[in-house]
Amino acid sequence: MERVKRLLAERKRIAVLTGAGISAESGVPTFRGAGGLWRNYRPEEIACMEAFLRDPVLVWEWYLERKKGIAAVAPNAAHHLLARLETERGDFTLITQNVDGLHGRAGSRSILELHGNIWITRCLACERQARDESLVYPELPPKCPCGGTVRPHIVWFGEMLDPDILQASWAAAEGCDLFLVIGTSALVYPAASLPRVALEAGASVVEINPEPTPFSEAATVSLRMKAVEFAEAMQ
Ligand code: OAD
Repeated sequence: MERVKRLLAERKRIAVLTGAGISAESGVPTFRGAGGLWRNYRPEEIACMEAFLRDPVLVWEWYLERKKGIAAVAPNAAHHLLARLETERGDFTLITQNVDGLHGRAGSRSILELHGNIWITRCLACERQARDESLVYPELPPKCPCGGTVRPHIVWFGEMLDPDILQASWAAAEGCDLFLVIGTSALVYPAASLPRVALEAGASVVEINPEPTPFSEAATVSLRMKAVEFAEAMQ
């Protein structure tokens, strides 16, 4: 921990990658591990275009349950720490795989959301995106003003990430001198490449995760702790 505090004090260009684990202590379930969402649901039944075309009502009901769960919780000390670092440090990039919007609610302003955002919808027909905080709809699936079917703005399995967001994330990983990886299983690519990109470009990479991951051994420092514990130790 002392080493990480020193790195944070000394290094000038900071990038951070977060995953579901940073929101776990807020009460948002992770995908993998004990209590993980993908233990009870097969991702191919929910989180892919084939599933949506087959049964859009089922997919929407699943996302509405997620939205209700997220609406009922609050950002935690780890989200707030990252929001504070953004304002205090000139060169800071936040990259997240999370779709829950909790970084924004904690006050982070510039967020590279690699996997989309559950509070945004997108029309299959006209591609129109809209901020949408509805927790119930008069009909499912919801319809766009153009008449097209609306889907959650989330990157599903088999879909490409937004190339601009991916490129900006890659550039931040290559250009930083300190990269923090908080609460991700480091299993889903291309996000999981980013810590290695940073490492290969010469940055120190600090992993914060109570469990070991495929990246742990390569990390400059691997802290076996929860995100909130880390944030509290950083105060
Ligand atoms: P996972 O559910 O795969 O991993 C969560 C990680 O958080 C695990 O390594 C846990 O050990 C760790 N963790 C649990 N509690 C924690 C805590 N309190 N503090 C810190 N870490 C904790 O979630 P992701 O890595 O985010 O994609 O998953 C990547 C992608 O897979 C997600 O974005 C999602 C999923 O399919 C989409 O929905 C597109």
